[in-house]
Amino acid sequence: MGPYTERFLPWFMEKVLSLPVYREQRREILRLSSGRVLEIGFGFGGTLTEYPGAQVREVVALEPNPGMVRRARRTLALAPFPVRFVRGVAESMPFRPGVFDTVVSNWTLCSLDPLSDALREIRRVLVPGGRLLFLEHGLSEDPALARWQRLLTPVQRFLADGCRLDLDMEAVVRSGGFLIESIERYESRLPLRVLRQMYRGVARPA
Ligand SMILES: C[S@@+](CC[C@H](N)C(=O)[O-])C[C@H]1O[C@@H](n2cnc3c(N)ncnc32)[C@H](O)[C@@H]1O
Repeated sequence: MGPYTERFLPWFMEKVLSLPVYREQRREILRLSSGRVLEIGFGFGGTLTEYPGAQVREVVALEPNPGMVRRARRTLALAPFPVRFVRGVAESMPFRPGVFDTVVSNWTLCSLDPLSDALREIRRVLVPGGRLLFLEHGLSEDPALARWQRLLTPVQRFLADGCRLDLDMEAVVRSGGFLIESIERYESRLPLRVLRQMYRGVARPA
């Protein structure tokens, strides 16, 4: 991992994803989390203050980028529950089956490859009846914008650590073996149109 990925991206992600427009969106989905929580693609720690402390017993923070983890460690004192960092990827997770009540993914599914492996792993580590909470950007319903997203995905993948712009997240989660309990598709107020389409949902293993 070079300095671009380990130093620049964590700094840049923290700057951007700390903006109120992102924080508000995270808060909406995280209020549904409870029990033992696994957050995949934990990043710089922007979610810690948004979890409902009274409902969450522990957060396990899965993150492959050591530069992100260094930043996230600074936020630990803000959490009213234990937080455990695990360095690893969602496509192959070092956890026993059936140990998490909630798995959270905020703007992370777009970077997983192959995504089907990661979704299978999420199903494996959830307790029976456990839930996946996701908040993801993805493919627009506007065909013209969707064409741009497909066109720009190779550039985005190169610049943003594998992130794709062209995934229909609802279809992706369903085809990964989940039943969608609720989903909202909406346009966020972000300046970059190709990143505006959001999918916020709750899913259970089928
Ligand atoms: C756009 S950032 C989102 C960070 C955080 N979830 C947030 O809301 O601020 C995506 C995160 O996914 C992580 N990531 C990339 N590939 C991953 C993988 N294969 N497994 C788990 N996390 C990954 C990145 O290092 C990065 O921290």
